[in-house]
This record gives sequence, C-alpha cells and structure tokens, in this order.
Amino acid sequence: MIYLTDATLVTGEAVRRGTVGLEGDRIAGIWVDGHAPEGLDAPDATVFPLHGLVLMAGGIDAHVHFREPGLTGKADFSSESRAALLGGVTAVIDMPNTLPPTVSPETLAGKFEMAKDRSWVHYGFHIGATNGNGPILRPCIEDGKAAGIKVFMGSSTGNMLVDRSETLEEIFRIRDAEILVHAEDEGLIREGLRQAKERYGEAIPFQAHPEIRSRQACIRATEKALDLAVRYGTRLHILHVSTAEEIDLIREAKRQNPGILAETSANYLWFSDEDYSRLGGRIKCNPAIKTPADRAALRRALAEGVIDTIGSDHAPHLAEEKARPYLSCPSGIPSIQQSLPVLVTVARQEGIPLSRIARVFSEAAAEAFGIRDRGRIAPGCKADLVVLDPQARAKTLTPAYKCGWSPYQEETLLGDVRMVFLDGRMTVRDGRILTPAPAGQPLEYDRA
Ligand code: DOR
Ligand code: ZN
Repeated sequence: MIYLTDATLVTGEAVRRGTVGLEGDRIAGIWVDGHAPEGLDAPDATVFPLHGLVLMAGGIDAHVHFREPGLTGKADFSSESRAALLGGVTAVIDMPNTLPPTVSPETLAGKFEMAKDRSWVHYGFHIGATNGNGPILRPCIEDGKAAGIKVFMGSSTGNMLVDRSETLEEIFRIRDAEILVHAEDEGLIREGLRQAKERYGEAIPFQAHPEIRSRQACIRATEKALDLAVRYGTRLHILHVSTAEEIDLIREAKRQNPGILAETSANYLWFSDEDYSRLGGRIKCNPAIKTPADRAALRRALAEGVIDTIGSDHAPHLAEEKARPYLSCPSGIPSIQQSLPVLVTVARQEGIPLSRIARVFSEAAAEAFGIRDRGRIAPGCKADLVVLDPQARAKTLTPAYKCGWSPYQEETLLGDVRMVFLDGRMTVRDGRILTPAPAGQPLEYDRA
C-alpha cells in the first residue's frame, strides 16, 4: 500500500484533512476527520507525508487537439500527453479536427491504434459530425468507442462546419450522447471578416479578432444550440463559453434542460482583449478572447456552477505560424500544462473554494461522459491523482509541448504540481517524469 498522509484532500463536495491509501492501481482507503489510517506501519507500506499540499483527482480534459494524425509538425500524441501529465491532467479526450478528420468508424479506430502505448495519460476520442455522416454517429457512441459527438457550428481550424439545419436537427435528436458544440455563427463571422478587410485591408490588427469573431456570433449560435437542446432534450455541452450573455442564456436554459452543460477554458478566465497588444497572434483563438467584463462574468459563473467543466482547448501551432500577420495566423493556444495553475490562481484571486476546482477539473467531465472508475477520489476508483502546492509559484510555465511555447510563459501563476499518480504509480515528481514508458489506457464509458 501507498499512503498519502495528512493531505488537504479536495473533492467536489469538501476540503478535508486526511489520508488516502492506494493498492495496486486503485484507491483502497480514505481516512478523514481524525480517523487514523490502518496499516500505516505494515512492512510493505510506503508513506508520503503531504502536509500543506493539496491532493485532488487528476484532471480529465475533454477538449484537446493533439494533432495526430496528419499535423504532427505542430504536436503529436506522445509529446502533448507528456505535457498533460506534467500539468496534473491524467486523462484527455481528443477532438476530431485532425488529418484525416475523425468522422468515421475507421478513422476513429485509427486513432486508438495511433495512441496505443504512446500516450502518457489515459485517452479517448470524440467523433466529429459532418453534413453527411449522421448515420454513423450513434453507433460510434453505442459501441463505446467515441466519448461524445463534436459539432462545429462555425468553422475553425480543420474546416468541419456543420451548417445544414436538417443535419443539426438530426444530431440534436440524439438523446443518449454528449453533443459538444463549437458555437459561433458562420454568417456573422464571414460578415465580420468582410468588414475588417474593408476597413484595414490585409493589415488587420489582432485587436480586431473579437470584432470579427464577434460576441454576437457566439450568442446567436449558442442561442440556437440551446433552443434545439431544450426542444429535443439533448445532452448539450457548449464548449469554450466566452461571453457574459452566453452565461445568462445557459443559466436560463439549464432550468428547462438540466442536461445542458457549459465549458470554458483557462484562456478565457485568464486573458482579455487588453492582452492582444502584448501577445498578438499568440492569444488568437476561436472563439476570440473577449473583454475584462466577460472574463469577470466567466469567473463568477465558475464560482456559481454555471460553468460545469474546464477543457484546456489545448491547440498547439508553431511559434512561427503564430508570429504571422492576422490573416495567415492560425487560431489556437497551447495550454494544457497551465490549465490547473490558472484555475488555482483564479480560485485564490476570486475566493473560489478549491472544491469547485476539483469539480470542474475532473469530476464533472467524468460524470458527463460516464468515464468508468476515474475522475473521483473514492474507494475502488483508479488512483489517478495530482498533488500540488497551492501557495507555490507554478514551475510548469516552461512548456513541454512539441511547439515549445505558450502565452502563459510570462505570467505569474500559483499551483505547483508536485506529484502525479497514474493508475496508482507515481509518474511525476517535482516536474520530472519517473516512469520509463507511456502507460495511458483507453478510457471506458458506462453509458446511462
Ligand atoms: O482556436 C481554435 N483552435 N479553435 C478551434 O475551434 C480549433 C482549434 C485548433 O484546432 O487549432
Ligand atoms: Zn477546440
């Protein structure tokens, strides 16, 4: 047995002092409220005293772009999963906008082959919807292969736009799967770009990004998605929420359909449009990062529970691609390793209890996708855990990404990851990986 003693044990329900015992790959015992752990002095007991350190379930990041297959000049499954592990994330679900896109049972199977024995964290994949692949979506969920169905209502990296209304209706009628939506209205984006070109010619400043991919574009698409989800009872997951108005719409829609969930990412909780002058293309992402007032609303929504999950939206591009002028600069921010430090820092700044962070960082995604035996600290669950010092400055700012950069490099963030356990094994200690080979397993799902 491994004992993690005297930890600040943070779960979605509470923050308590206690000890967690690991046996093999699972959590075997939890002792809190002054109950003394049993077996501590057994000859085979290994004890790690964690006084002053936070112990949480490892992150479950259901929104990553690891770029494999096809875009491995930017990133690959091995490099990015390693960075995830160093950042306290122990499971990821990868998005379908790869080359080829993950839009068929065959390409989905190919992704499992690709990740086998190469992922440092546990892994799953979303299947992408297209205007033409309606019939294969449900089977990919039912046979336990896909985690959820990704719908781009608004085009972004990878050009996977679903814009036929019959197709959208067909997808939203699927009741027994998580439908993840990138909600930006394509017509408004095109109009925004046309106007910006008229005004600036080719020399569009990065500050114009949130005017081009405007708040109205987000609001209109989110409204439409919520409307369909309320009508059909869909399990809708609105991804990367970026405006205050969408928060209000989501709060209201949840009253009518509690199956509606909202995600945001560290990027929208940390940066604002005031940062474009400093960071330019480095923080160009879709949807665009909006105003400080939006950021404040998102932080309140995180505290309040209107935001259910945090996905990093880890979307690596090369530094030289991000240094290009606006029109040829790709959208996306590499961020998975900094997601937890941002959450810990925001929690401190806003007085948000760490139990909210445990909830959004792992538990809620585990529940939403029905991930078997992971994402919680409970007896019998797999021991995927992160230990961090919430007071210490995060040292994970030098990213392990293949692209080698992140816009968080100059930021001051709290939450230093001290240890990561994957399936009961200590795999990270003080910023170093201890295990010789990747040990990530495919995620399994218990569907309701
Ligand atoms: O900024 C973004 N980058 N938004 C997306 O929707 C896709 C992502 C990417 O894959 O680069
Ligand atoms: Zn994304």
